[in-house]
Amino acid sequence: MEVFWLRISANNCVNTFPKRKMAEEVGRKKVLIDLADVPQHVRQELESQYELISWPRQGQEEEKEEAEEREEEKGKTKGKRLAECEAIFTYLHPTVDRKLLEKMPRLKVISNHGVGVDHIDAKAATELGIKVGNTPGVLDEATADLTMALLLGSARHVVSASHLTRSGGWDFPSLGCEVTGAVLGIVGMGRIGRQVAKRARCGFDMTILYYNPRSRDVEAETTWQAQYCASLDELLAASDFVSLHCPLIPSTHHLIGAEQLARMKPTATLINVSRGPVVDTEALYQALLRSQIRAAAMDVTDPEPLPASHPLRQLPNAIITPHLGSASDRTRARMAALAIQNLHAGLNDLPLVAQYN
Ligand code: DGY
Repeated sequence: MEVFWLRISANNCVNTFPKRKMAEEVGRKKVLIDLADVPQHVRQELESQYELISWPRQGQEEEKEEAEEREEEKGKTKGKRLAECEAIFTYLHPTVDRKLLEKMPRLKVISNHGVGVDHIDAKAATELGIKVGNTPGVLDEATADLTMALLLGSARHVVSASHLTRSGGWDFPSLGCEVTGAVLGIVGMGRIGRQVAKRARCGFDMTILYYNPRSRDVEAETTWQAQYCASLDELLAASDFVSLHCPLIPSTHHLIGAEQLARMKPTATLINVSRGPVVDTEALYQALLRSQIRAAAMDVTDPEPLPASHPLRQLPNAIITPHLGSASDRTRARMAALAIQNLHAGLNDLPLVAQYN
């Protein structure tokens, strides 16, 4: 990270920068961005139009402070640089809180490369007149595909069986559970939930139950014969697979805890491709350890990443993938295009293509 910070600082240094380039930079809008994470092609596209200001990655507080001190010494405080930015481009999930926003009086837009904006204080942004853009709609299929991969992989022991053959073994000790015709409970029937329902219904003849806290989904009911459950408990008790597709908001934090896990069938599998904190990690660990539920397959964890030594990583009835829901070539390209469009629009005082707030 430090490397990027220094490079950006060097780019602004009078002695090393060609005069013509400096003149170009003067008029360029400044965008705060987590450069260490953003893919090269996105960086290049943004760099061709804006001056990119990198901010140190989270968890690197010491480096951050050292970098700030160095900047202060040069009379160019980070605060000043932040104050000049008119946009933030978030690639992974860096925290954008009120404290940061209040340091950025020129900020017009936060463009998030992703649909979930739980890492951004959207309420504060709205109050401060800042637009928040995200990428809904373009990643539903990819995320639903991964959901099915986790569901099938867990049901038929794909990961552990592969580990077995890699280590020279062949005889697998246990049978999988049948997916075709099983009951799938979808928590959060939104865009992604509907795509999961479609795959499960058309491809695997599954019975679809769903729970939405506020509204029924007529489309899912008529198209995929999804059956509405009036309560989460009802869905949990009746499902062979429970798949989470709700956003992380205060009311969904630890939506699945010890009590809810106890309501699931002992033969049931939990799938989480939403956000880690929707599930109470410790409660899930205990439930899996004691075989209170059959298995869990998750693309998201709390915290993320889980510490390397976390015992959940070692459980044979858990599959964990590193937040890959949208990580397919075509989907990531669409997300980048939409996030960049949102950024351009916000910087030019135009309505965003996809505005969250
Ligand atoms: C999303 O779009 O929210 C995915 O989780 C990727 O960040």
